[in-house]
Order: sequence, then C-alpha cells, then structure tokens
Amino acid sequence: MLVAGARPNFMKIASIQKALERGGFRTILVHTGQHYDDRMSASFFRDLEIREPDHHLGVGSASHAVQTARIMEAFEPILLETKPDWVLVPGDVNSTLACALVCVKLKEATGVRLAHLEAGLRSHDWRMPEEVNRVLTDRCADLLLTPSRDAAANLDAEGIDAARVAFVGNVMIDTLMERLSAARACAIPARMGLVSGRYVVATVHRPSNVDTAVALGTCLGGLAAIAADLPVVVPLHPRTRKQITAFGLDHLIERLRITEPLGYIEMLSLSEGAAAAITDSGGVQEETTVLGVPCVTLREQTERPITVEEGTNELASWPLTIEGIYEAYRRAMQRGRVGLGTRSPDGWDGCASERAATALREAVKRD
Ligand code: UD1
Repeated sequence: MLVAGARPNFMKIASIQKALERGGFRTILVHTGQHYDDRMSASFFRDLEIREPDHHLGVGSASHAVQTARIMEAFEPILLETKPDWVLVPGDVNSTLACALVCVKLKEATGVRLAHLEAGLRSHDWRMPEEVNRVLTDRCADLLLTPSRDAAANLDAEGIDAARVAFVGNVMIDTLMERLSAARACAIPARMGLVSGRYVVATVHRPSNVDTAVALGTCLGGLAAIAADLPVVVPLHPRTRKQITAFGLDHLIERLRITEPLGYIEMLSLSEGAAAAITDSGGVQEETTVLGVPCVTLREQTERPITVEEGTNELASWPLTIEGIYEAYRRAMQRGRVGLGTRSPDGWDGCASERAATALREAVKRD
C-alpha cells in the first residue's frame, strides 16, 4: 500500500509504484487529500501518469493536529480492511507521519510492516513540522530507504539498527529523468516570453518564511531586488498567496512574474531553463542539483546538505535579509550553470526506484 498526500509525494510515488509493479508487487494507492486543488494534486496524476487512487481520504486542510488526526481516523479502517503486507510512506509531510503512526500501532494486530521512502534526512531544526514528521516516521519504520549516503549517519546517531536501512538513491530523480524530454517539448520559458538562461525561478512556502509579515516581506523584497536584473518567475503556493493578502504585501509582488502553481512538466521545463533558482523547497534543491542550475536556499539549514556539498545549492546567509538574498543570487550567477547530471550525488541516477523495489523484496524474504 502506497500513501500519497501532498504535492512533493506525487513525483516519488510515480516512479516507485511503476517499479514495484514491474517487480511483481500488487500495489494499492491511498491519497489522503492533504493537497486537493487540481494544480496541487490532480495535475500531477495526469502529468506523471499515476493511476487513480484506490482510496481517497479527502481530508483537506486544517491545523496540524486536526489534519493528522483526520488522516489517522480515515486510514485505520482501510488498513484493517485491506490488510496490506507492507505500507510505504514517502517524504516528510503530515500524511507521512499520520499513516506511519497508524501502521506501527496496528503492527502486532495485523502484521503490517512499514517502509519509509526518503528516510534519514535531517535539518536538525526541531521547529520545522517536516523535521518532526521525518524523525518520528523513521522511528516507526521497519525498512528505511535512504536517498543519499549522508542519511545513514543520521540514522546511526539516533540508534536505528543499520539492518533496517537500505541506501537506494533519489526516486524523485527517476521521475525527473523520465519526464525531461516531455518538459523540453513543452518549452514553458518560450511560451512565457522568457529567454532560456535569462530569468530566475523562485518558490517560497515554508511556514518560517511565509507565516510572519517580516519574514515574507524579506523573501519577497529579496526577489523584487533580483527582478531589477532579470525576470523572476514565482509559481505561488496557495499558503503563500493567502499570506500575501493577509499581510497586505501585494505591492512587493508587482515586479515579479507571479503564476498559479505549475504542473510537474511545466515546472521542470521552467527550472531547467533558469539562470538560477531561489527556493525554500526540498525538491527544488534536489532537482536543480541534477539539472546543473545554481540554487539559493532561503533556509537556516537544509536536510539535504549533499545538494550544497556536491550539488549546485547554497544557503543564503541567516537571518535572511533583502541584501543577503541578493548577494547569494549574485554568487549563484557567478557560479553559473553546469551540464545535466555533472553534479549528481551517488544514486541520483534514474535507477533508485528499482533499487527500492529490490530492497523491499529482500525485506519481504527476511520477514
Ligand atoms: C505541505 C508540507 C510540506 C511540503 C508542502 C509542499 C506538511 C507539514 N507540510 O505544506 O512539507 O513541502 O506541503 O507543497 O505536511 N492549500 C490549498 N490547496 C491545496 C493544498 C493546500 O489551497 O491543494 C492551502 C491550504 O488551505 C493551507 C495551505 O495551502 O492553508 C497549506 O497547506 P498544508 O497542507 O498545511 O501544507 P503546505 O504548506 O502545503
């Protein structure tokens, strides 16, 4: 049973479901409905050719406690009824933890086992909801599938038995490689009147950047400063759009090219053509590393340090300031773009979901 809930899960589920089915597993897909708009959810199912979910929990948005509780309440009867041998949860969103908790509590009663895809990433910032979700999900999991070599040390430091851990690489990059020719064919930059290599793409949605007027004003102010040099395209997350209105910051987006959230193929096309990316998204840090596009991350730390050490990423100086964001962008422009895959970390090679299917098959045999 595969769980998908929010936008960053869909590109992971797409490749893992196909690899598991090629490997002889029967899969059942559960969509929690944490993300529900066409642009945040259904468009990804179309772009990535993911088949319709077998179960849709329709939980929608709410506070962390209510969202997590609603997912648990809706997921438990499905698990009891369908009795899967394994449940695989990807990433670090509330859906990930909610379903992990249900599984671990029903383990004795049902024999269900839990696999966490993208295990072992750590920002070491306990204030981030995603960090809480990661640590607790890893603690519950029987099989921890890691996306990069550094994850093993994080898990070891938390006392997790290495026998439960399998390095598989980054399944998101499998999806990227599979969809790159479609992204090139859709030529979004040209359709938006942009010249490849002569614009910046930016995304911002993390609570720490958008939930206070000062933080959001700083991020948007930094992007506005960059927009004096190059067009800055910002596909706006619904959370960010709401906060801009709530804080009366519309004047700060006048110089930016604001769009609705983009589909996967459109976003990949836009990222590949960009001179630089400015982001607080984990996925964009990873994708730009493989695409060879210099990236500036608007965070105090990243749970994906490998994108800084080996990839194209740099953290903007902290605390964020408008000048600091602009300076980091200038350094990114000086670093420039590099060829596709030249900075890809180990296992970010398009074969991670096959390795994950193999690891799961071995875990089934061990059981
Ligand atoms: C979630 C994840 C985050 C991930 C991000 C990617 C958690 C704790 N956070 O944050 O790790 O990087 O998704 O997008 O799980 N909204 C819509 N339409 C939608 C979805 C959301 O309008 O389809 C609005 C909601 O009304 C809500 C806001 O966006 O006010 C935030 O949604 P929420 O589910 O809380 O999480 P994200 O901020 O998207």
